[in-house]
Amino acid sequence: MRGWRLRLLFACTTAFSLHAESGYDAWLRYQALPARVNEADIQALGDSVRLVSGPKMSGSSEVLLAARDELSRGIRGMLGRVPRLEVAEGALSARFAADLPADSFRIKTVQQGSIRYTVIAGGTERGVVYGVFALLRKIAFEQPIDSLDETEVPYAPIRWVNHWDNLDGSIERGYGGRSIFWENRHARSDLSRVSDYGRLLSSIGINACSINNVNADPGILAAEMLPEIARIAAAFRPWGVRAAISVDFASPKILGGLDTFDPLDPRVAAWWSAKVDELYRAIPDLAGIIIKADSEGRVGPSAYGRTHADAANVVARALQPHGGLLFYRGFVYDHHMDWRNPKNDRARAADDNFRPLDGNFEPNAVVQIKNGPIDFQVREPASPLFGTLEKTNQAIELQITQEYLGQARHTVFLAPMWKEVLDFDMHAAPRATPVKALASGKVFGRPVGGFVGVSNAGLSENWFGNHLSQANLYAFGRLAWNPDLSAREISEEWTRLTFGPGREVDSTISEIQLSSWRTYESYTGPLGLQTLTDITGNHYGVNVEASERNGWGQWHNADAQGVGMDRSVKSGTGFVGQYRAEVAKVYESPASTPDELLVFFHHVRYTYRLHSGKTVIQYLYDLHYEGAEAAANYVRQWRKLQGLIDERRYQEVLAQLEYQAGQAEVWRDAVVNWFLKTSGIADEKGRAGNHPGRTEAESMQLEGYTPVPVTPWEAASGGMAVSCGISRCAARFVFEGSPGLHEVRIRYFDQNNGLARFRLFVNGEVREQWVASDRLPTEKIDGTSSSLKIVAGVALKSGDEIRIEGSPDGGESAALDYIEIQ
Ligand code: GCU
Repeated sequence: MRGWRLRLLFACTTAFSLHAESGYDAWLRYQALPARVNEADIQALGDSVRLVSGPKMSGSSEVLLAARDELSRGIRGMLGRVPRLEVAEGALSARFAADLPADSFRIKTVQQGSIRYTVIAGGTERGVVYGVFALLRKIAFEQPIDSLDETEVPYAPIRWVNHWDNLDGSIERGYGGRSIFWENRHARSDLSRVSDYGRLLSSIGINACSINNVNADPGILAAEMLPEIARIAAAFRPWGVRAAISVDFASPKILGGLDTFDPLDPRVAAWWSAKVDELYRAIPDLAGIIIKADSEGRVGPSAYGRTHADAANVVARALQPHGGLLFYRGFVYDHHMDWRNPKNDRARAADDNFRPLDGNFEPNAVVQIKNGPIDFQVREPASPLFGTLEKTNQAIELQITQEYLGQARHTVFLAPMWKEVLDFDMHAAPRATPVKALASGKVFGRPVGGFVGVSNAGLSENWFGNHLSQANLYAFGRLAWNPDLSAREISEEWTRLTFGPGREVDSTISEIQLSSWRTYESYTGPLGLQTLTDITGNHYGVNVEASERNGWGQWHNADAQGVGMDRSVKSGTGFVGQYRAEVAKVYESPASTPDELLVFFHHVRYTYRLHSGKTVIQYLYDLHYEGAEAAANYVRQWRKLQGLIDERRYQEVLAQLEYQAGQAEVWRDAVVNWFLKTSGIADEKGRAGNHPGRTEAESMQLEGYTPVPVTPWEAASGGMAVSCGISRCAARFVFEGSPGLHEVRIRYFDQNNGLARFRLFVNGEVREQWVASDRLPTEKIDGTSSSLKIVAGVALKSGDEIRIEGSPDGGESAALDYIEIQ
């Protein structure tokens, strides 16, 4: 009877989930498992599961209660029925939890005569929660749980996320809606999402979250703000996630009314100390403070000729009595760099700035270092600073929000990229010293260290604006807990929990995820070119020259003969010399530099031959075609999942992947055409500059439309578009291809300042109509707004008239680029 009921429950849950899932529960869906697993697992758990807190904890702790409720929710969801769950203290605590380090956990099956139970013990209460989530994962993966005896210790104590949320509710570089924390300079009245986010963070072992932008509003430290921070901290607390804040370094002056913010002025030190005391009175478990100073227009210690260590230390000292950490961002560089001087190099900045200060920081100060020396580009080498600092705490900063990586409109799973950096041996000591070990403080025995991820999840139902982007938060947490996990293990775990189970589902999604970074790199900026996006603007659409000839220093230096930054010691900027000798030796010459970073380190001619034997230029062409093809293939792969996952997420991801495939073609054509024009070297395979079946809008017969040049020129086919300045325009041409069913591909521009309408006619009959309603981050006709409409199965014969009609709206001019018929 019970088995039958469970099967019914399973069928209902499955049927329900196949119809509508919003993505809100992310990987914590607790899908019902088959009845045979239910029974076996219930037996295996025994008569109870006992949550065992460390010696100093109380059974009424809200963290332990959250752990118990989560266990109940998870087991009920997956197995249908819950054994007794209890929070135990006393003898069990001494037996199972006493020797556990902070945040670690032990899961053990105990058999005493005929009595069997499962213990989840934590070194801290957080450890208990982590143990609960680990057991629930095991159940979800259908792993045996009948004789468990395992202990997990997190790799590093710092496992934080940073949010770049502004107090007005907007998010800098956030792509999943507005802030879950703030609105109109107040903590949101309903903070239930913060609590749900805390649950997600806790499930992957993240123990702190900073809640405001590193470009900090000084107002965060105003007295009236402290209760608001306290409310957010309270929403996180049951999940063992501690709140942290970012502050403006000039606060003593702006907010405190002093005439200085000189870190060596005793009045400034006293101000910080009093302010931090006040903070801790409101939020006794505040995790710490983050400072971005002397960077991108933020003021800093240079205003008084002081060092970054002086700046970090004045706040770190104020935090010491409270056990708080001070994170000082290593992302310090001059964005007014003289691009005419070939010795100037932004990549050098972090190491140049912090090397001389090694050993000068307080023991609770941490230098937070971006994974690469530039800024979250699609490919960068590991920052040399990881290998430089021996007597200073450090943490690696990874970006979960995909600022330069498709902004959650493109699927880019970042674990493979992060793994390359984390596993990279910096040769900082005679034994292996991978970045993960350096950043975690293991190599030089630092008291703290670890991982910080810039997350920027928002109010969008699925948190990030793209279901598949959730995997990046999951991967970050899992790697911070255990950086030895492989990207494949993580993606398989995530897929199984988020979309599975189901063999076809698991393998298809995981394969898309695992190849997606390489795919994105291929159609954006391979060979270490960096992302080739609009560097001074939205960081999204293609703009090959945006990085050049400006002070931001993100140059690739492409010219008629070649491409790349010479960063060698011998003839370049000397950046390579910032690495330890063993690493520098590899990067110093083009011959030993890995192909994928070649032009990051060297300026080479387009005819330079890579290790693969291909010339640089041919490789650039080939990769862009391969990348766009791979993106198109994701759509085909995804289509196989219809009916195997819930319809809502199926459709939403399908739409996203279709969009991505269209965008990948813009990227491909733009970059390929730019290099074709600049180098004057033809594509051996004849593809670059050749677009069979394409009719440029500007060469059609135009009614009202006028041709306009597009900036940058490579963002539009032929460098031109047509735009409509009246209420309705049209463009037409006569089809001259072979008769049959064709795919009509219309490239148009979807600016975000209007809702233009389009209609496609064949011989005067409306064949398709749509509204350009996407909210892409541009008001302009450019690579960001360039969009593709595909109308499949159109019967055409030679002589048919194709006509497209556009009706502008607001600032959006119903602009068209071309029509391609395949
Ligand atoms: C990037 C990003 C900025 C951000 C900065 C930082 O440059 O575009 O929005 O403020 O990084 O990490 O501080």
